[in-house]
Amino acid sequence: MVDRHRARRSCLAVPGSSAKMIDKARGLAADQFFLDLEDAVAPLAKAEARERVVDALNEGGWGDRTRSVRVNALTTEWTYRDVAAVVEGAGANLDTIVLPKVSTPDHVRWLDLTLTQVERATGLEVGRIGIEPQIEDAAGLEAAGAIAGASPRVEALVYGPADFMASINMRSLVVGHQPPGYDVGDAYHYVLMKILTAARAHGVQAVDGPYLQIKDVDGLRAIGGRAAALGFDGKWVLHPAQIDAVNEIFSPRQEDYDHAENILDAYEWHTSAAGGARGAAMLGDEMIDEASRKMALVIAGKGRAAGM
Ligand code: GLV
Ligand code: MG
Repeated sequence: MVDRHRARRSCLAVPGSSAKMIDKARGLAADQFFLDLEDAVAPLAKAEARERVVDALNEGGWGDRTRSVRVNALTTEWTYRDVAAVVEGAGANLDTIVLPKVSTPDHVRWLDLTLTQVERATGLEVGRIGIEPQIEDAAGLEAAGAIAGASPRVEALVYGPADFMASINMRSLVVGHQPPGYDVGDAYHYVLMKILTAARAHGVQAVDGPYLQIKDVDGLRAIGGRAAALGFDGKWVLHPAQIDAVNEIFSPRQEDYDHAENILDAYEWHTSAAGGARGAAMLGDEMIDEASRKMALVIAGKGRAAGM
């Protein structure tokens, strides 16, 4: 079955055409990696990259990290061949497919049905390979809820900021930076919140896209930190130098994690002392109740997943 609770703090983009980068990625501490057949691969290199990706998945060496492939968008002529080649060739060693530029739930349904066909034809377990739709344009954002709910295979919605900014004609050249001249708040708040609530409404994860200024770790921390604070599960990384910062940003702070565990312990103690009746209780000067327990469970869950 698909897994909607994977560790997805850092998701490393690896060009499917580069043997060197694929080898290097095996030793890196990202929670997830995806071998890219889309924008990191030139049109003439797509066919060879497919073969390289199949070999890289089958050769293994990825530990318990989530193994993904980004295929080309359904507006190109490459998608069906990408899916057939990768799943026929390496379906047993693949966890999810990242589908870019999803603008309608039909894109997800197409991939779901195609995956089912390939799984049946090759004797793979039907329904195990997950789908991660990228929200990268205005139509995709408008339909984000329907996209998240389009298939039980959807594990996460992924924001594609570069394509998104281009698609709405935003007057900015730097991904994640506020567009010059816009000085009344955060130009991305609506987009992030819409993707996050669409994902949560369907019980799937939400992942922030890449930050392209790879030497600017402060910028990465600021922009990733906002998504993490809202509730996103993780962020794409494009370079090894971004991984540690992103893993840290998307793990709870130690003091928050400790406090969350204390709330859970105290609430459980009060509940059993009251013979199982759930109600408000005190933890020091703080009143805790069922809603506090749920909030604490979110932070504690993230901390436990990060091995705290
Ligand atoms: C990622 O695919 C992006 O467009 O930012
Ligand atoms: Mg994109």
